[in-house]
Amino acid sequence: YDRRADALQKLGFQAVPKSKDDLVHVPPGYRAQVLYALGDPIREGQAAYGNQGAETDFGQRSGDHHDGMYFFGLSTGGGWDPAISERGILCLNHENITDAYLHPAGPSRDENGVRPAEEVRREMEAHGVSVIAIRRRVDGGYELDRSSPLNRRVTLLTPMELDGPAAGDAMLATKLSQGGTRAFGTLNNCANGHTPWGTYLTCEENWNTYFHRGADEPQRSAAENTALARYALAPDSQGDNYRGWNTVAGDITERFDCSAAGASADDDFRNEPNLFGWIVEIDPFDPASTPRKHTAMGRFSHEGCVPAPVRAGQPVVFYMGDDSRFEYVYKFVSDLPYDPSLQGLAGSAHLASGTLYVARFDADGSGRWLPLRHGENGLTADSEVYPFQSQADVLVHARLAADAVGATRMDRPEWTAVDPVTGEVYLTLTNNSRRTPDDVDAANPRSYTDGFTNADGSTTENKGNVNGHIIRWRERGDDPAATSFHWDVYLFGAESGAPASVNLSGLTDDNDLSSPDGLWFDPAGLLWIETDDAAYLDHSNCMLLAAVPGTQGDGGAVTVDNGGQSKVVTLRGRRATPDNLRRFLVGPMEAEITGLAMTPDRRALFVNIQHPGENGETASPSSHWPAASGDATAAGAAGSRPRSATIVITREDGGEIAV
Ligand code: FEO
Ligand code: CA
Ligand code: CA
Ligand code: CA
Repeated sequence: YDRRADALQKLGFQAVPKSKDDLVHVPPGYRAQVLYALGDPIREGQAAYGNQGAETDFGQRSGDHHDGMYFFGLSTGGGWDPAISERGILCLNHENITDAYLHPAGPSRDENGVRPAEEVRREMEAHGVSVIAIRRRVDGGYELDRSSPLNRRVTLLTPMELDGPAAGDAMLATKLSQGGTRAFGTLNNCANGHTPWGTYLTCEENWNTYFHRGADEPQRSAAENTALARYALAPDSQGDNYRGWNTVAGDITERFDCSAAGASADDDFRNEPNLFGWIVEIDPFDPASTPRKHTAMGRFSHEGCVPAPVRAGQPVVFYMGDDSRFEYVYKFVSDLPYDPSLQGLAGSAHLASGTLYVARFDADGSGRWLPLRHGENGLTADSEVYPFQSQADVLVHARLAADAVGATRMDRPEWTAVDPVTGEVYLTLTNNSRRTPDDVDAANPRSYTDGFTNADGSTTENKGNVNGHIIRWRERGDDPAATSFHWDVYLFGAESGAPASVNLSGLTDDNDLSSPDGLWFDPAGLLWIETDDAAYLDHSNCMLLAAVPGTQGDGGAVTVDNGGQSKVVTLRGRRATPDNLRRFLVGPMEAEITGLAMTPDRRALFVNIQHPGENGETASPSSHWPAASGDATAAGAAGSRPRSATIVITREDGGEIAV
């Protein structure tokens, strides 16, 4: 389905202006309808969501913080048909929660700091994944089919299996996983992927931030302490999302205290963090199936997992970002050649063994994929970084292995996207407040230590790589399994009013953006860019843009001048124009725009509005989106609590999106 020739000469919609109001804005001629919001029931006969914190059945309702998403066409026989648009299964992640709006009066604790068990169960069930059947209405919009037996919630309580080289290893043994082969649930599911055999991939990102760890654990080895610290679980630590789940009695909640408190690893939850940080595979067409965590794909803060185009008999290849400051970008190359006869979870054999690579970007525009194989490239027991005893050790501690082989430390790798026409791979580097002029490199070339002055005289005081950029590479020989590539920078984020030394891609009012995050190619080869921004909220809420991507090296040279303080880096880059990059949507207040899916006929675009009003309080919400009418462009009722939601965008004339 290559529509590039007629569709991609020029974007076919009016640019949406920046906005700070509490509405979704789309171009003239488009409709935006709420399809699936926090608390919506997934079965017939359930009561509508009251949105006052009364519901206790989130295992059968939409979770919170809708994120990565995929549309699987649904055949009349109930199986996957990639050509069907009228009916489908939408799989979507519920990354996190805004707890102020989930309970009657916000989250609570008793005088001893213990959380109510009911609140904690609700919070655990509001995380995870939704699998929901949807169908086209006569007006071209979509609705849930609550009668479908495929509807399912996967939550933090769902049993899962582990496979791959680390499954069964002692490092994965806990009181609830004594053989190291099972886990309960999935956590902080951010971006996503899908497979050529019809399954959904969900990615565990900031899982570490839900754990508490005690101060004094003499039974931990030096290697364990090194490993935990590298995954931001140093002694006496707890993360931003720590919610005190472990204060509730019972193994399923106490596991979120990962202190080594028992007599052995089988007797406590010291290893529980090792059961998170994986790529998880779900078969949307078998609601009784057990999801799988694939240890061969490495453990880190997984942002997404996107396949390269597959060919029968060749390895399958997936690209994966690790979204933290100075982390890496990885790819997985399967041992098993692609076998199209393996469908559903039978296909997961492709993900059970293979080679995990990490990227090094060199200053001359070339790059290398460095294999993370035990016994090679210094990944041995006498490494100075960490004593790697086995391949399981390399995969559980993929970040340490990547440190040891000399990968390039990036500005927060978020989503990857593969151009279906050229095979070029794009990666958002969202921002990095800790990048300094002393450690910029060719692939991460920007740092503004002293901020900068804008054209209107205002100053931007944010530090580091403030607005992020998008990098792009082409594998050698156009072979996704190649071990080298050539790269350039596709786009630099900036405010249009920033000085030319900051606004390097020449962004205008119609397309300026900051902190690119979600990134996705539609079936026609248009590139969609979503933002998750803090630096730019004084100008606009978060947004979605569409781009005609071009190809590598088509933009000429730009010079990055970091205030004259240290390095000047010259790169190839792309000059944006209103024809090749244009704003398509702006979201409501305090919402991130994330998750993208489209029907194969390109007549419906699904977008997630994540955490509107995230900074508000229970009694005084800071957003009231969405409206009860379901019109995403209408204002919500004064005083109502905001809800994360999937919206569906269609054209009033029923035509294809953005062409
Ligand atoms: Fe959940 Fe990196 O965004
Ligand atoms: Ca993200
Ligand atoms: Ca982000
Ligand atoms: Ca988020």
